[in-house]
Amino acid sequence: MTAGERDKLVAGGLSASANGAAPAPKVNKGRGILCWAIFGVFLLFFIIMAAVYTDPQRYKAASPVSYLTGEDATLYKNLGQVYFVPSTSKMNAMANFQLGLQLLHVFWYDLALVKFHQARVQDPKLAMAYWGEAMCHKQPLWQSEDVAGAQAVLAALNKSVAISSLQPKDQAYIAAAQVLFASNATQRQREMGYMEAMKEIHNEYQDDADACAFYALSILGFLQSTGGALPADWANQLHYQASEVLGDCMDYYPGHAGLLHYATHLYDVSDMEEAKNGIAPALALAKLAPASSVAQHMRSHIFARFGNWSQVVAGNQDAVAASDKYCTAIAAGNSCDADNRWHALEWQIYGQLQECALSGATVSYKRMQSVAASMNYSGDYVQWLYRSYAHMQLSSLGAVGAVPLRNASDNATSMLPPPLYGSASGIKDAADISDHFWPPHAEAHALLARIHSLVWGRTAAQQQAAAATVDAAAKRLDAIVALQTNASAQLNAEMTALLTTVQLQATALVSAAACAANLTSRCTAWQPLMEQAMGLYNNFSGSSTLPSLKIAPTPEFYANLLLLTGGNATQALQLYDICLGQMPGRMTCMLGRARAARALGNTSATRFFYELVVSQCGSAGDARFPALVEAKQALAASPPPPAKKGLLRRRAQV
Ligand SMILES: *[C@@H]1O[C@H](CO)[C@@H](O)[C@H](O)[C@H]1NC(C)=O
Ligand SMILES: *[C@@H]1O[C@H](CO)[C@@H](O)[C@H](O)[C@H]1NC(C)=O
Ligand SMILES: *[C@@H]1O[C@H](CO)[C@@H](O)[C@H](O)[C@H]1NC(C)=O
Ligand SMILES: *[C@@H]1O[C@H](CO)[C@@H](O)[C@H](O)[C@H]1NC(C)=O
Ligand SMILES: *[C@@H]1O[C@H](CO)[C@@H](O)[C@H](O)[C@H]1NC(C)=O
Ligand SMILES: *[C@@H]1O[C@H](CO)[C@@H](O)[C@H](O)[C@H]1NC(C)=O
Ligand SMILES: *[C@@H]1O[C@H](CO)[C@@H](O)[C@H](O)[C@H]1NC(C)=O
Ligand SMILES: *[C@@H]1O[C@H](CO)[C@@H](O)[C@H](O)[C@H]1NC(C)=O
Ligand SMILES: *[C@@H]1O[C@H](CO)[C@@H](O)[C@H](O)[C@H]1NC(C)=O
Ligand SMILES: *[C@@H]1O[C@H](CO)[C@@H](O)[C@H](O)[C@H]1NC(C)=O
Ligand SMILES: *[C@@H]1O[C@H](CO)[C@@H](O)[C@H](O)[C@H]1NC(C)=O
Repeated sequence: MTAGERDKLVAGGLSASANGAAPAPKVNKGRGILCWAIFGVFLLFFIIMAAVYTDPQRYKAASPVSYLTGEDATLYKNLGQVYFVPSTSKMNAMANFQLGLQLLHVFWYDLALVKFHQARVQDPKLAMAYWGEAMCHKQPLWQSEDVAGAQAVLAALNKSVAISSLQPKDQAYIAAAQVLFASNATQRQREMGYMEAMKEIHNEYQDDADACAFYALSILGFLQSTGGALPADWANQLHYQASEVLGDCMDYYPGHAGLLHYATHLYDVSDMEEAKNGIAPALALAKLAPASSVAQHMRSHIFARFGNWSQVVAGNQDAVAASDKYCTAIAAGNSCDADNRWHALEWQIYGQLQECALSGATVSYKRMQSVAASMNYSGDYVQWLYRSYAHMQLSSLGAVGAVPLRNASDNATSMLPPPLYGSASGIKDAADISDHFWPPHAEAHALLARIHSLVWGRTAAQQQAAAATVDAAAKRLDAIVALQTNASAQLNAEMTALLTTVQLQATALVSAAACAANLTSRCTAWQPLMEQAMGLYNNFSGSSTLPSLKIAPTPEFYANLLLLTGGNATQALQLYDICLGQMPGRMTCMLGRARAARALGNTSATRFFYELVVSQCGSAGDARFPALVEAKQALAASPPPPAKKGLLRRRAQV
């Protein structure tokens, strides 16, 4: 099908529904019929004119968007093109359904749910509105779902609509949702069944852009929730399948935000060549859907793979701005679009720190801090603040930690992060884990950062004075790990391992810092702890670029401690190389790599990595950023040997 044919299909569907009229019958059965037809045409004209006269606004409405008002209309026009035309004669229901679908494709789940719900209230027979509302309860790439919530919507659908009377395509979509939320199957069975069902719908309705998008998303969701557990050939085959499907459909439907969005996720992988395929869809998505914070943010997933920090920062600044614009327009407070906004702010801070842009990072951080403070450091914002605090503290080997977690002096014992994580008793199943993982993970890193600020590079006397605070922080970390281990070790070994890693790192840090300062009473064997942490890291290092998971990567952390204690610099160098291989352009690893080379007396490598630091800081860099100060001092202290000139001169002399 050509683009023109497709447009006609979409437009035809729209206008037929808009006028509620059937296509005109062919007039070829004699004059009588012709007369009736002419009469009919006049009658129709009269009816239309009457409609125009009485309700001109309504008649002029050529597309569903005119049935939306205010910010809804703005969103509709700024979230990409809509291709799906549901069966309803109620234009307001159609408009809300289509807006819900647009929102669903950019993972704006809470608002999508509201729109689908409005659509089904406006037309209780619009089966696809129930389908959409149910689908909002599955957030495949966030590993989150509410099966009971979806089942309640599907039960309401059963009650109000005779499914067997629907068009076959609608029936197929609904059957797929029933498989996805079936009560008699495991999550894996449900996800596999749904993937198969979407594949069939995609094959049957090849001109359905949304079937294509949801089929691809079902594959990505399945790959995500099975993690590394799938046999490699199967995972590769699924990945390939998704790339084929998305590749074809993006050509046909360049205005579909979901296709571009899922393609960006598909290519968010550690293989650089593969990741390059994500650049074009990511940039196209940002352009296509300016109203979506997620659409603006997505390109940073790809650019972080290449260490292209200016793009990471810009993408997240745009994401925060999109969120702010929407929330201002609907006059909503801090909780409006909160997850998207704070997620983007955390990424922005991370990117800014990689470019030594301390002032910019501090502005972003203070925005989070003031919101958290206004809520007395409770609620959802705190986890973003905690992680960002840890990024700020740990991002320059301890030297940036000028920003306190709370609005008070950063050295009082009372300045431990207020507990964020109360009880793990709510964890029921694997789908629940994510909600119970991020808060303890954030709090654990805030504790690690707090300990770091109290012991790193401090004298024995300073460490001794802070010992009670440090021990209280360590005790709290132990409690967090115990809670999580009890609640979820069976459900998700990786999340328990990630928390255990922080615990091991904190203990090793306290000990190594004491050794470095000759505080013998607290200097114990810390290396076995870091070896254990490396074992966990190697089992679960994953391939995510998520800054939230890159606060204190174990190879870098281990290498830092080795250099701090005057340990094996060759080993440290190798660990920094692992870090740079997995996280190209990570500032702290480049800095550490330069320090390791210096400790080994390799002047050319020392220069090389300090120069990398200086060039990456570029124009965005803040002159007082510790890594930049150190690099510039080191480069000035040892100007490059005139190697080439000397060589030439010697040759000339020969
Ligand atoms: C809806 O009806 C279908 C078919 O009759 C049935 O299989 C399904 O369990 C029902 N769903 C809910 C949530 O009641
Ligand atoms: C769940 O029930 C449906 C219909 O009752 C059936 O078709 C399906 O095979 C069942 N699924 C599993 C995994 O048992
Ligand atoms: C970052 O990406 C942009 C857009 O693709 C490109 O123009 C720029 O050269 C890249 N910068 C670096 C340092 O790779
Ligand atoms: C910190 O306290 C000062 C003075 O009381 C106030 O002006 C500022 O807004 C506070 N900052 C935050 C982040 O709460
Ligand atoms: C803020 O929280 C602390 C404990 O975390 C509590 O003591 C204090 O009363 C709270 N303040 C307000 C204004 O809610
Ligand atoms: C806290 O730190 C600041 C700056 O480092 C210092 O001036 C102040 O005396 C410290 N306060 C306490 C109670 O240690
Ligand atoms: C974890 O489980 C063990 C053994 O069941 C129990 O002794 C311990 O108190 C539990 N810890 C927490 C923090 O619930
Ligand atoms: C620790 O002790 C060693 C050996 O006595 C000494 O060389 C070093 O300078 C001391 N370090 C500190 C930080 O005091
Ligand atoms: C890593 O995974 C392997 C295989 O699952 C397991 O045998 C080993 O104990 C794990 N290592 C650590 C440190 O968890
Ligand atoms: C230092 O580490 C390297 C690489 O891990 C290793 O080959 C070497 O034996 C270590 N040196 C010492 C003195 O332990
Ligand atoms: C110095 O480091 C560079 C780059 O890592 C390496 O190629 C070179 O062999 C090293 N030189 C010495 C003397 O170790």
